[in-house]
Amino acid sequence: MAPIELPEPDPDGQTSVERAIAMRASRRTFARTPVTIEDVSQVLWAAQGLTHVRDGVEMRAAPSAGATYPLVVFLEVTSGGRADLDRGLYRYDPGRHVLESELDAPVHDGLTQAALGQEVVRDAPTTIVLAANYERTRRQYPKHGDRYVHMEAGHVAENVHLVCESRGLNTCPVGAFTDADVADALELPARLEPLYLLPFGRRATRK
Ligand SMILES: Cc1cc2nc3c(=O)[nH]c(=O)nc-3n(C[C@H](O)[C@H](O)[C@H](O)COP(=O)(O)O)c2cc1C
Repeated sequence: MAPIELPEPDPDGQTSVERAIAMRASRRTFARTPVTIEDVSQVLWAAQGLTHVRDGVEMRAAPSAGATYPLVVFLEVTSGGRADLDRGLYRYDPGRHVLESELDAPVHDGLTQAALGQEVVRDAPTTIVLAANYERTRRQYPKHGDRYVHMEAGHVAENVHLVCESRGLNTCPVGAFTDADVADALELPARLEPLYLLPFGRRATRK
């Protein structure tokens, strides 16, 4: 399948970063309306999108120890409802700002079960799965590499959280899951370990 080109990221949101911090909260319910491709573009760009070039290296939206960039961003879509974003599993390519189809098989139920049946994962139309290739950072930092990867995942998650808040999307970081079950559900290669789930979706206008 051809890669799905995402709209150009917009670095000028309508909400100040302070306002987004003040409003931020873990929100676990979602409207039935699907997220837009613009939402997906902004959220993925905030997670790992390219921002600038330093010494010939393409730098990303979140800091990374030694610019080793050990994280891979997957996007699970359960109810895209759009011809350009069918349900399935995608991998974000920061360099081209595109989504590559990763798995055609339905993964939503497996992912929900792996997350101990949590409703926030079950009900989310879209979930980011952050996975880590620890070796990339361990090679450069044998002593502190693992710690650095976890710190980086926190940076990515906060970027996602703040951009969601700024766009009126709900999200909640999810760390409670069975690693092996997430890896099985997503058919992750052995070098990648799942680290964090970030379900997100539109906010219901009425409770
Ligand atoms: C590392 C981490 C793991 C978390 N895992 C879960 C989870 O599995 N399920 C969940 O509902 N919330 C999870 N949360 C969200 C916390 O419950 C939430 O951040 C906390 O209650 C504070 O609320 P606030 O985010 O609205 O400020 C997690 C948060 C962090 C930082």
